[in-house]
Amino acid sequence: MSSSPQSAKLQEIKAEILSLLEILSDKVDLERKLGANFLQLAPTRKVYSSSETGVKPSQISQKSLFDTYNERKKVELSKSEKTEKLKELEEEVRQCTKCGLCKGRTNVVFGTGDADAGLMFVGEAPGHHEDIQGEPFVGRAGQLLTKIIESIGLKRSESYIANILKCRPPENRNPTVNEIILCKPHLIKQIEIIRPKIICALGTFAAQTLLDTKESIGKLRGTFHDFQGTKLLPTYHPAYLLRNPNDKKKVWEDMKKVRDFLK
Ligand code: URA
Repeated sequence: MSSSPQSAKLQEIKAEILSLLEILSDKVDLERKLGANFLQLAPTRKVYSSSETGVKPSQISQKSLFDTYNERKKVELSKSEKTEKLKELEEEVRQCTKCGLCKGRTNVVFGTGDADAGLMFVGEAPGHHEDIQGEPFVGRAGQLLTKIIESIGLKRSESYIANILKCRPPENRNPTVNEIILCKPHLIKQIEIIRPKIICALGTFAAQTLLDTKESIGKLRGTFHDFQGTKLLPTYHPAYLLRNPNDKKKVWEDMKKVRDFLK
């Protein structure tokens, strides 16, 4: 006998309540183990001092129970679901006219590669060749990026490649703050769908934008950072390497870290 929509909904609600209770019970257990006897039910709840609880603040997550619940609820999508969601997002981005770059573009350069990739590269913005072909990193810098990817035993098609901006800035000028603010949400959505194990930010611009810092790429590169819960490793941009081939060694060192992390 097939169930009615109401009983299916009821089952769904029941499953959600059970899941919430399970998280609640985990949280109580953890807090007991830490010697704390409270639950942080909302971000505004009183935060106890460590002298009151005997627990160091670093030991307690500042997330509310509901944040934890929502995070756990984010189920991992299958590869075909990710592909489908990326396709829908691409359709949406193709219609984007939020900034002036849409007027001069030949193509929106959305991104390319494996929707289920463990490794995602983020560059700056499309150049001339990318604008014409509608694909990121297809010029000389792109050929070098392909070699960089292959140097750690992956095919280019096994990674996912995107840019901060989806449309080419005229004369390859630097993106403006306004363009970044308007375009970055597209990239965030891509990252949320793909959920790569690691993001490799290529060059100053991608690294500074994703990490929200003004620190130089020389200082940022080669170490693991956090981007909204995902590991992020900045390295030099392939176009910079074409001008400064002596720094290829450093990129090789960085890529070995990415390779080891993915193992
Ligand atoms: N440089 C970038 O940052 N992105 C591209 O797609 C091409 C060149």
